[in-house]
Amino acid sequence: MEKVDYLRAMEIDCWEKRSSSTNSSTNTESNLTRNLVEESSLSNNWQELADTIANCTKCELHKSRRNTVFGIGDPNADLLIIGEAPGATEDAQGEPFVGRAGKLLDNMLLSIGLQRSNIFIANILKCRPPQNRDPSPKEVATCTPYLTKQIEHIKPKLIVTVGRIAAHFLLNTNLSMAKLRGHSYEYGENKTPLLVTYHPAYLLRSPGEKAKAYQDLQLIKSYL
Ligand code: URA
Repeated sequence: MEKVDYLRAMEIDCWEKRSSSTNSSTNTESNLTRNLVEESSLSNNWQELADTIANCTKCELHKSRRNTVFGIGDPNADLLIIGEAPGATEDAQGEPFVGRAGKLLDNMLLSIGLQRSNIFIANILKCRPPQNRDPSPKEVATCTPYLTKQIEHIKPKLIVTVGRIAAHFLLNTNLSMAKLRGHSYEYGENKTPLLVTYHPAYLLRSPGEKAKAYQDLQLIKSYL
């Protein structure tokens, strides 16, 4: 048994770094579903990738979407922020984080001297789940090769996940946000530093946690 098996046997939570390659996971569900969009078949050209996503019909979400949400900002940015999925406003406008949570995200970024135009913001899912429900594991598996391709193209110097869904996908873990935030991780073969913070929509519901988010922002700033 490996160390991780002993930890799991003792019911001690642990996380494993997710590689950016599509064949790294040993999780059965992931193996069954994650290659529904073959990452290797996706174009390395940014505009072609955007066009592919705009026309995607790989899962049921395309039936209810108004727009896909590719992401926004500088495709050569040092900082990549990854959220969960478009909400109603994002679906209507085709842009990530433009609703109430987006305003808070903008203010969080401003507090450390960043603007949308200097960074790139993307989501785990490119289409809105109806009623803003959590993305299903199958939807995440189907859609995330697009994000993986975006990360390959952007080659960010720092990735920041906002919220549980993005952290869980990129770190291949189910640990709580309370356990994940405040630490640094590495993503993929390039060992890109990755930090975790709360989702701004959660902070709107739980303003008492904003102080912790502010600490996370200071950590983010120290990496830039
Ligand atoms: N929440 C997200 O995670 N992403 C968005 O684009 C909007 C809200």
